[in-house]
Amino acid sequence: MMKSLQSHKSDKEVVLITGCSSGLGKNLATHLIASKRYRVVVTARAKSLESVKSFFTESEDVMIRKLDVTDDAEISELINDICCHWGGVNILVNNAGICYRSVVEHMDIESEMIQLKTNYLGPMSLVRSVLPLMREQGGGRIINISSVSGMVSMPTMASYSASKHALEGATEALWYEARPYGIKVSLVEPGFINSDSFKHVVKSKKALLSASLKGPHSEYYESMTPFIEKLMQWTFATPDRISKKIERLMLMSSPPLRLRVTLDAVVFAFIKKVLPSSLFHRIMILFLPGAKHWGIPVLRFKTRRYKPRH
Ligand SMILES: NC(=O)c1ccc[n+]([C@@H]2O[C@H](COP(=O)([O-])OP(=O)(O)OC[C@H]3O[C@@H](n4cnc5c(N)ncnc54)[C@H](OP(=O)(O)O)[C@@H]3O)[C@@H](O)[C@H]2O)c1
Repeated sequence: MMKSLQSHKSDKEVVLITGCSSGLGKNLATHLIASKRYRVVVTARAKSLESVKSFFTESEDVMIRKLDVTDDAEISELINDICCHWGGVNILVNNAGICYRSVVEHMDIESEMIQLKTNYLGPMSLVRSVLPLMREQGGGRIINISSVSGMVSMPTMASYSASKHALEGATEALWYEARPYGIKVSLVEPGFINSDSFKHVVKSKKALLSASLKGPHSEYYESMTPFIEKLMQWTFATPDRISKKIERLMLMSSPPLRLRVTLDAVVFAFIKKVLPSSLFHRIMILFLPGAKHWGIPVLRFKTRRYKPRH
């Protein structure tokens, strides 16, 4: 049993989950609370705290707290609070995330920073806050929710992909660093999840403007946005199924560094492994809707003699 939790009169491990107001975070918190196996710290940004409090109920094993993962002061306040109440954190699930839908040219530094802070810098701050506690306790688990976008990049998702690639890279390094102290580190890689999260997609100012103007990148948005939304509605991968896989991961004595939790994630990982990257990208182009026409109207306008190569 981990040392510092013994004094807080429960054998149950303390799980801290970020981003519990919707989607996967909300579902996972629901599962873990129902299992009665853990003490769960359900967190959400201040703006969503009321709706979270109307869904979850605080109890001996459930704590509901405010947490914006981009706010270092809120992170340390929360960790102190958990330590006072329950003695520490045994399992951290870095779930909170946002997704910008914007081509590279339409991103700006401010938007890039929001994307990176939410999906990479914030989760890393949380990791740094819990590592000393876990080391002192003699072990723990860190589960970072990544994405297929952490292994593959798609047009209009550059910044999101960059944030998940960063999370993947750092988590892989952490796996080695935390191992000697009994801290088990995993990346959960979902592909498309059947949820409403596409409604939460964020657009940079220029991407928003581009939706109303015909510009060099209009076709990317026109084809990619409905394509991604459809894939999210058609997939069999629900937050419920993924939560069950994460629950099983939490019980593994030797959890894998990477857990692909949807069929498309398994397929993408396999194809990336076996195909040369030049071939992989050519195949991707064939499957991306409207890819043959991207940029063509603008190029036609600029030079009448332009002939598409496809
Ligand atoms: N949906 C997919 O198809 C998919 C695929 C692969 C990976 N993922 C990953 O899975 C995770 C969960 O996504 P989801 O599908 O459940 O999306 P979601 O329904 O949009 O949920 C995201 C959660 O993150 C919270 N959040 C956003 N910014 C935050 C911040 N600065 N601090 C704290 N919480 C914040 C949101 O809370 P607010 O109410 O405060 O906005 C919300 O609760 C994310 O890391 C995402 O990248 C999703």
